[in-house]
Amino acid sequence: MKKTRATITAIGKYTPKRILNNRDLEKIVDTSDEWIRSRTGMVERHIAAKGEASSDMATAAFKDMRKRFKIDPEEIDLIIVATITPDMFFPSTAALIQHNIGARNAFGFDISAACSGFLYALAIAAEFIENGRYKKVLVVGSDTMSTITDYTNRDTCILFGDAASVVLLEPAEEDYGILDYILKLDGSGKDFLYMAGGGSRNPATHETVDKKMHYIYQEGKSVFKFAVIKMAEVSVDLLKRNSLKGSDVGLFIPHQANKRIIDACVSRLKLKDEQVMINIDKYANTTAATIPLGIVDAYDQGRLKKDDLLLMSAFGGGFTWGSVLVKWSL
Ligand code: COA
Repeated sequence: MKKTRATITAIGKYTPKRILNNRDLEKIVDTSDEWIRSRTGMVERHIAAKGEASSDMATAAFKDMRKRFKIDPEEIDLIIVATITPDMFFPSTAALIQHNIGARNAFGFDISAACSGFLYALAIAAEFIENGRYKKVLVVGSDTMSTITDYTNRDTCILFGDAASVVLLEPAEEDYGILDYILKLDGSGKDFLYMAGGGSRNPATHETVDKKMHYIYQEGKSVFKFAVIKMAEVSVDLLKRNSLKGSDVGLFIPHQANKRIIDACVSRLKLKDEQVMINIDKYANTTAATIPLGIVDAYDQGRLKKDDLLLMSAFGGGFTWGSVLVKWSL
């Protein structure tokens, strides 16, 4: 019997109004527009308003989805939220979103896989549809990175932005949808990219706040090296396993963490510029939201059309990394 695949049938996005550009950052830390552009490809990023949390941005992205597509929230079976900046430890961000959007028949949960979170969530959602148990799964990538960013540290504060984006997965017709995926985890990466404070290891105290343990810590160079190797490797492996080459890919949407990392991966995959979605200049690194944001922007720009082969790849804290291959149906 032919396997039921899961496919993306609706999309939506939200970015906060406030924009922080490189010139603004020049006034806060010792940096320059030139350095940021040339070392990262970033130009501006959106920053959430005070009190605006990941569930609020996701709710707004869902609203955008409803403007674009006919969706009854009560028909949603499951909500999976990829985030490392949940509104709070519990209840889950999924619970808050479920309540906000009136998806009263859905259950849901959050997953923590940093910048690979959206791909992890997408793969999990696809399994629930492929096994026939559920018909409509909302997959959310939402991160309010500004709330865990130290704006006195030039090493990290230039890199991140806030955004949310959502996709709806449903059973696919014909041979469309998620064709295959590879997801990876290597916990030895835990020392290079993390936020130490606030969890059960270092519960919040005055001391953890004084030591700035509630902010992102990153060894940029180590993460960079790992990302360059692993994002390309997993993309090549996924294509190979499906007897495909770079030239078969309609659009490649990589995680947007550094333009130089994307360029290295693109060169390894032997892709042309027109095959690659880059919007790092507009949003910087929005963690779990970069890839779904790329999907929405590419779709709006007419760069993602029915029958296109879409390759998505990410890497992030953990370390986590992975790739997902889709035959696009929208
Ligand atoms: N503005 C100006 N100078 C800066 C700076 C900034 N914002 N940040 C660092 N520098 C300086 C450093 O102090 C260093 O100065 P020195 O040579 O006098 O010591 C110099 O620039 C080079 O720093 P380095 O850290 O080697 O730069 P880099 O080329 O590795 O770029 C990152 C730094 C963070 C942009 C890069 O390592 C990176 O993108 N890493 C991966 C990050 C990532 O993807 N994280 C998310 C994972 S999902």
